[in-house]
Amino acid sequence: MAITSDSLADAATVIPVLTVGDTGHAAPLARALGAGGLRVIEVTWRTAAALDVLKAMKAAEPEMVVGMGTIRTPEQAARSVEAGADFLVSPGLTPRLAPALLESGVPALPGVATAGEAMAAAEAGFDLLKFFPAEQAGGLDYLKSLHGPLPDIRFCPTGSITRERAPDYLALPNVVCVGGSWTAPKAMVEAGDWAGIEANAALAAGMRT
Ligand code: 3PG
Repeated sequence: MAITSDSLADAATVIPVLTVGDTGHAAPLARALGAGGLRVIEVTWRTAAALDVLKAMKAAEPEMVVGMGTIRTPEQAARSVEAGADFLVSPGLTPRLAPALLESGVPALPGVATAGEAMAAAEAGFDLLKFFPAEQAGGLDYLKSLHGPLPDIRFCPTGSITRERAPDYLALPNVVCVGGSWTAPKAMVEAGDWAGIEANAALAAGMRT
């Protein structure tokens, strides 16, 4: 089933932002997140294993919507989609990256941190944006202030959002999901703490917009 930005926004609450260096961790990690009730996850392209991790996660949990994040180049976008990425996420938007994301065939969430960047991304054709780095770029108050002049722009804030802060973001009218590493931090993944990750995922899945 093809994923659209609307179906992504509907399915996602907290999107785990995953950095996985060992492909062997991919399947148990995806299963733990799925068992906790999460349906949308993001693998970051921050390790050499990222493409293999994405493929292994999709094979282990076929119903899981798996995106590739930290996309910085058109080549990364194309290779991610070829590997089966259901959506793409970038930390920011560049003139070279924008058309590659728009033409990738899957929803893409470009990162923005200001009103001007959000306007430019919306004008370019993106209808769901990553607000990054959320806490450092102005956090809740900044997003609240954007809703008045830009009521049609939807955000998925990401960046130092903790479990405690996530519900406050999800309660904002212009926020449809939040990203964060707290559900499956690197240390828990490397320790193989799948039960702990499943418990975090269940907490995350219980947070609704
Ligand atoms: C990101 O790198 O996309 C975000 O910052 C997620 O990681 P964090 O929740 O650790 O900030």
